Amino acid sequence: MKRYVFGRGAGLRPVPGAPVGLALEEVDAPKPRAGEVLVAIRANSLNFVDLNCFSGAFPVDGRIPLLDGAGEVLEVGAGVTRFAPGDRVVANPHASWLAGVPRPESVGEVLGITTDGMLAEEVIQREDSLVRIPDALDFVTAASLPCAGLSAWSSLMGGPARFAVAPGSTVLTLGTGGVSLFAVQLARAMGCRVIATTSSASKATRLESLGAAAVVNYQETPEWGARVLELTDGVGVDLVVEVGGPNTLPQSIRATKAGGRIAMVGIVGGLGSIDYVDMLPINHKVLTLFANGMGSRADLEDLLRFAAETGLEPVIDSTFGFDRAADAIAHFAGRGHVGKVVIAREA
Ligand SMILES: NC(=O)c1ccc[n+]([C@@H]2O[C@H](COP(=O)([O-])OP(=O)(O)OC[C@H]3O[C@@H](n4cnc5c(N)ncnc54)[C@H](OP(=O)(O)O)[C@@H]3O)[C@@H](O)[C@H]2O)c1
Repeated sequence: MKRYVFGRGAGLRPVPGAPVGLALEEVDAPKPRAGEVLVAIRANSLNFVDLNCFSGAFPVDGRIPLLDGAGEVLEVGAGVTRFAPGDRVVANPHASWLAGVPRPESVGEVLGITTDGMLAEEVIQREDSLVRIPDALDFVTAASLPCAGLSAWSSLMGGPARFAVAPGSTVLTLGTGGVSLFAVQLARAMGCRVIATTSSASKATRLESLGAAAVVNYQETPEWGARVLELTDGVGVDLVVEVGGPNTLPQSIRATKAGGRIAMVGIVGGLGSIDYVDMLPINHKVLTLFANGMGSRADLEDLLRFAAETGLEPVIDSTFGFDRAADAIAHFAGRGHVGKVVIAREA
């Protein structure tokens, strides 16, 4: 079977200038040991953190890339009780976080970063890390959800503390990446009003078509926090799904209502320092900032059930075949995508 692995000096260089490349290997099909499951992967999707792996942020050499993958069980090892051959499954990226509030031992193992990921024709996973895919969801949808979808879901659910948004709440999303578009769609399905930011008029139209009530162009309106306040009659939003990082956080704090919350998700707006003056309103407005680390296996099960019940259809930017995985990653690294970039096999 074929699999990709990260490697310095590896032949494929999907991310221009990045120190870590990609190699395609042909190896014997792995055999599941006790407690393990062999899965034929049908679809993967890409996430911003995969680019961090190519840029050398983590020691990933020799590992199979990608957090996200869904497929069909081929074989189970001794003692496996949760799955049988033919079952459709998707892996939770936090392979050791089963439920509830994370413990130190729950968060050390992340597929595609600290341990082998999903970009192979067949992968071995412990049965504990896998979740059954509801019949209503296809492999591409399932493969789009574990990292970006779960991050959006956990943001709206208030993290492990489960302080979820109520119907009628106003949610602010930033940009049109994978997490943000899922946040728009899930928030709408939960009965929330959505205000979104983006960088272009065409993307604004896309956000409106997904149900955003108002869209602010952050290129044209650098003080977009003030504009969001206007759009909420000076009150502010209940929740920000903060994917931007230090360069967007001051405006996000400004846009949040007193007593509101900010889900700290990512850094797509770039790294840098933040002046404490910009953070003082966290105290003045008694805001809650909470971490987002995707979620547990139980959270992923909840999300898949919600997606199946509400007919969630991910925004798919583009789909590439397994043999063109390097092109898919290069396209994603080009930053022109809207929604999920997918790598799919023939079913
Ligand atoms: N903590 C966790 O467990 C977790 C899980 C998943 C993701 N994340 C993080 O969340 C972030 C988003 O991930 P993703 O996979 O959704 O990323 P992505 O798909 O790569 O997002 C790219 C989009 O970000 C938007 N963007 C860029 N600069 C922006 C800015 N200054 N303000 C607002 N939007 C901006 C752009 O959309 P527009 O052109 O429309 O602005 C761009 O298309 C990443 O930092 C990722 O590492 C964290």
